[in-house]
Amino acid sequence: MSVNFAHEIDERRPAGTDQVVLQVEGLKVYYATPTGDVRAVDDVTFQIREGEIVGLVGESGCGKTTTAMAILRLVQSPGRIVDGRILVDDVDIARLNERELRQIRWTKISLIPQGAMNSLNPVMRIKDQIGDAIETHEGRQPRQALKERILSLLSTVGLPSRVYKMYPHELSGGMKQRVCIAMAIALNPTLVIADEPTSALDVVVQRVVGETLLDVKNRLGVSMILIGHDMGLMAQLVDRIAVMYAGHLVELADVYSLFREPLHPYTQLLIDSIPSIKERKPLKLTEGITHDLRNPPPGCIFQLRCPHVTDKCRTVVPPLLEVAPSREVACHLYYDA
Ligand SMILES: Nc1ncnc2c1ncn2[C@@H]1O[C@H](COP(=O)(O)OP(=O)(O)OP(=O)(O)O)[C@@H](O)[C@H]1O
Ligand SMILES: [Mg+2]
Repeated sequence: MSVNFAHEIDERRPAGTDQVVLQVEGLKVYYATPTGDVRAVDDVTFQIREGEIVGLVGESGCGKTTTAMAILRLVQSPGRIVDGRILVDDVDIARLNERELRQIRWTKISLIPQGAMNSLNPVMRIKDQIGDAIETHEGRQPRQALKERILSLLSTVGLPSRVYKMYPHELSGGMKQRVCIAMAIALNPTLVIADEPTSALDVVVQRVVGETLLDVKNRLGVSMILIGHDMGLMAQLVDRIAVMYAGHLVELADVYSLFREPLHPYTQLLIDSIPSIKERKPLKLTEGITHDLRNPPPGCIFQLRCPHVTDKCRTVVPPLLEVAPSREVACHLYYDA
């Protein structure tokens, strides 16, 4: 099996504490369409522990953003949470009313939405955008204290104090993205969800923003869910990886084990498709027929693309089960379920 990046990852202890900050159980989010429900997230279960970064990966359309939006109850119509629990401090977010939700968003869980840096208000100075985010939740603040707090946030994300008075168009992409990170941590949340925070940036800036996230995590002890495609960046930043395919979580493991020995056939394809200069191997294509999300086949979700498919896979859904310490996989190859 390919060991791309595994050599770059220290064989680290699973990071974070045993304290669970988010528990997602059996989450289902469907989008209603005239031809039936698109099952964007279909029975997803995972936990996030205090002080860890979990990478959420998978190809475009597999349900990463929908999962993130559902955790904050921000799924827009025609989408809806069909089933599941989203537990924070034993409170089920799926059952809160709007007023209760406002107390949790930003203060407990914050989101850096996909494409956030392009959504900064072009006619507002950075200080006012961050200040607004703080005052919306905490009410009007004494001017000097607010200024110091904003400057401290900018410094936490590695931005110079002159950014305080600047407008978004005066900043580079990487700087704008760091402003978004500053806004996400402004109210000291326990969990930050960053949806593809580096996708629109060049590789050097991607690394800088990645380092900023890591630094923020280490300094503040927040937990993070980092959504992305870049497996190299994941290898450098995250403690565990959750792999999604067609609305399902198919593998969840510590990053070292996942790169060294990916278990799910989809994870294997994903890692085999990382180009390597050293090996100069032919690129393995992960393309193939994906089923219609409105009409999933009985059995395993990956059966149409899986090189190891058996009759059982065509009829029995493989549950996500722990097959070794810190290793969960949804595949009949690894258990008799
Ligand atoms: N408003 C909508 N109506 C119908 N289907 C939708 C809607 N929004 C999203 N979907 C579908 O839900 C599925 C999951 O979408 P989602 O945006 O969560 O994927 P993603 O993994 O974040 O993809 P990307 O990597 O491209 O950001 C996709 O198949 C998408 O087509
Ligand atoms: Mg997305």
